[in-house]
Amino acid sequence: MSSESQIVAVDMFCGVGGLTHGLTKAGIDVRLGVDLDPACRFPMEQNNSAKFLEADVSELCASDILAAFGDAKVTLMAGCAPCQPFSSYSQSARREKQHADWGLLASFSSLVLSVRPTFVTMENVPPLRKQEIFEQFVAALKEAGYHVDFEVVDGRDIGLPQRRQRLVLVASILGPIKLPKISKPKVTVRDTIAGLPPIAAGKADATDPLHVSASLSATNLKRIRHSKPGGTWRDWPRDLVAPCHARDTGSTYPSVYGRMEWDGPAPTMTTQCYGFGNGRFGHPAQDRAISLREAAMLQSFPRDYAFVPRGKPINFNTLGRLIGNAVPVLLGEYIGGVLTEHLKAHGH
Ligand SMILES: C[S@@+](CC[C@H](N)C(=O)[O-])C[C@H]1O[C@@H](n2cnc3c(N)ncnc32)[C@H](O)[C@@H]1O
Repeated sequence: MSSESQIVAVDMFCGVGGLTHGLTKAGIDVRLGVDLDPACRFPMEQNNSAKFLEADVSELCASDILAAFGDAKVTLMAGCAPCQPFSSYSQSARREKQHADWGLLASFSSLVLSVRPTFVTMENVPPLRKQEIFEQFVAALKEAGYHVDFEVVDGRDIGLPQRRQRLVLVASILGPIKLPKISKPKVTVRDTIAGLPPIAAGKADATDPLHVSASLSATNLKRIRHSKPGGTWRDWPRDLVAPCHARDTGSTYPSVYGRMEWDGPAPTMTTQCYGFGNGRFGHPAQDRAISLREAAMLQSFPRDYAFVPRGKPINFNTLGRLIGNAVPVLLGEYIGGVLTEHLKAHGH
């Protein structure tokens, strides 16, 4: 039950609920999460008190959002649209698709302008800042009377054990709002995953089916045995180096097939973060890639966050996509903290 002055939120593009979970920890009452991926329903509803609506955001009406807000006085619309179309590598390669996906930010924008919540937030990759669609979004918010601030937040500064930079926007109808720079103590891979039971490549922990690592071919098993934490494939004996590496001068591939370092941050968790060959996703000490549970914890999900119903199969592609695409819970908590403090400062 929320109080009169509690912020009531709707989370569009909610995924597995990373943002929702963080906002909730900051005291926000998230009532509804919307996503077109049905795999998001279970984690969203199981770990949060929000309801899940399987729908295309571009087909939603203002009345769907207003119904979720009910008679709430202070409201928030959050919308972390898919970020791949905005990442720099895709700029030239997928223009057609980009246009389709940019439209999702436009859909979010037009819903915001119809609903007129008290607050708006969104998160995406930093290159979005330079896109016309983002400038149009900010201009439309300002024209509608919102105060807007946006910053690139470094995950390490908010206690994330991972290199991850994200563009965060907050907007308020109440008055000037600012995303403060914070600098929490640095958290490492060791702080986050050292306590998990050891598992072998291709095996799962008996008590936690998500603590499962992808199997490795005989060659990749040899490769990981020769991989040093923080090192590259250049540490391997020559016969294990793939032809594409051997031909290459080393400028483009050193970050694949790596092991993480215990006392540093993990690399950015991606949708492929469970694969040893896909980045520096090797466990610092065990001869395997990180497990899906470790990936989720490096994204700051609690140890017991449930992603699939008990007894249901674990699919690496699906879970990798859901976990790699998630907004880190800590980032949600940071955003939620900014909004709740701002609300207090405005007399609520
Ligand atoms: C960056 S992820 C969101 C992460 C999520 N906000 C979190 O906190 O974990 C983007 C999400 O948008 C969803 N999505 C993509 N297109 C959509 C659409 N047209 N309508 C609704 N959801 C969509 C994807 O299924 C994906 O879960």
